[in-house]
Amino acid sequence: MTGELSPIDKAKFVAAKRAADFVEDGMRVGLGTGSTAAWLVRCLGEMVRDEGLKFKGVPTSTRTAELAREVGIEVISLDEAKWLDLTIDGADEFDTDLNLIKGGGGALLQEKIVATASDQMVVITDAGKEVETLGAFPLPVEVIPFGWQTTHALIEETLISMDVLGRSATLRMNGDRPYITDEGNHILDLHLQRIGNPRQLALVMNQMPGVVENGLFIDICDTVVIGYGDGRVEVR
Ligand code: 5RP
Repeated sequence: MTGELSPIDKAKFVAAKRAADFVEDGMRVGLGTGSTAAWLVRCLGEMVRDEGLKFKGVPTSTRTAELAREVGIEVISLDEAKWLDLTIDGADEFDTDLNLIKGGGGALLQEKIVATASDQMVVITDAGKEVETLGAFPLPVEVIPFGWQTTHALIEETLISMDVLGRSATLRMNGDRPYITDEGNHILDLHLQRIGNPRQLALVMNQMPGVVENGLFIDICDTVVIGYGDGRVEVR
């Protein structure tokens, strides 16, 4: 399954493989989105095929749903599952309190809904994503297409009034068109450099008309599984 991997892919793979051991027979499991989560889905597919693991997966994107079905995982919707034992997902940044920035892959809305509906969230990541303060990675904010430029202006004004560094927000593009999420929305990426108070920023963002969700995951992640390029894994 792995062939010759670059150190970063090896780190993602070993983290995903270790986290796959958290999945037990009979569980309902949220399946994240992104390259690290894709390794997890492939590992779980192997466990279903070779070890007879029986669980139900709730994907957080159409991409993950397709891959999960392809590797033989039984896929159900969140409404069918109602509540999940566990969600395993990647992240773009994590800090020492296990707060996260997510949404680099554009799936933050379903990812946050699914993680919040889970008894525990396990994040799988390479070591390079650990930061002292969140914010070097641009913060994704999902906005509805109607009036997005007005929402954009409101976000920038709010960042200035909050005295947040950076302050510029850019519309995520897919070629020459705006990126469209699975829910039919756009994403604004906020270039903040440093988020001094992520809890406050997350609350302020979600109060704005036009904003659907932001990529700050505060007090949602319980465990982080960190992979290293030499194959070591650390669980925190
Ligand atoms: C998708 C996400 C991903 O988990 C995040 O972007 C990390 O991706 P990768 O595992 O490819 O580095 O939040 O919306």
